[in-house]
Amino acid sequence: MAETNLRASKDEMSEGFSEHLDLELEIEGERQLFPLLPGVKCPTGHTCRARNFDYKAAHIHSTAPMVNSLKQNFKTSLAASMNWEEVNSNLNEVVNSGDYCSRRNAMARAAGLMAGLSAASVSKPAYAAETKEVLMGNDSGLLVFVPAKLSICKGDTVKWINNKAGPHNVVFDEDAIPQGVDQESISMSDQLGEPGDTFSMSFSTPGTYEYYCEPHRGAGMQAVLTVA
Ligand code: CU
Repeated sequence: MAETNLRASKDEMSEGFSEHLDLELEIEGERQLFPLLPGVKCPTGHTCRARNFDYKAAHIHSTAPMVNSLKQNFKTSLAASMNWEEVNSNLNEVVNSGDYCSRRNAMARAAGLMAGLSAASVSKPAYAAETKEVLMGNDSGLLVFVPAKLSICKGDTVKWINNKAGPHNVVFDEDAIPQGVDQESISMSDQLGEPGDTFSMSFSTPGTYEYYCEPHRGAGMQAVLTVA
């Protein structure tokens, strides 16, 4: 059942691509072509030209649908120098991967390539990495981490910000972190006294990490970080 639906939607997409049109307009006596998005019909009262592109051949080589339309719409010097093979493989990963972090990183790499970066630059692990913020003390001064549960992708950084009711710090529970991770090297030895003070740490080992604030452990100031 699900497979039938999938096939039907793929056929619809192929048909949509064959209707990729350019709108022909006369501007200051000159005829100019403006690309329409794939599947968009020619507006009534206007002249349009169909694109000549072998979409069937493109599908055989497993071209991500988005790549076809991008390639047809980009008429800049960037498009000429862009590594389309890399863009294509990253977009395919965005569509096909069942893993959130793989999809997120592939999307970031594809966007970087389209912005003109080289495959070498966007392939560095740090390129797709993100920084997530955790507040220490909520806005009403309660002794909590906000959010108390956070999921990141391996390679990401967490930035703790002293918000209210400090001093605070971040100390990981040595019995509740992934095996092989050194508790001391990821924990703070001192405290953040001033509002706005920060502590940043990046995480490369997947797993669950429990941590607390040393001065307010007794008040229940603790949180969980998941690295996927
Ligand atoms: Cu605290």
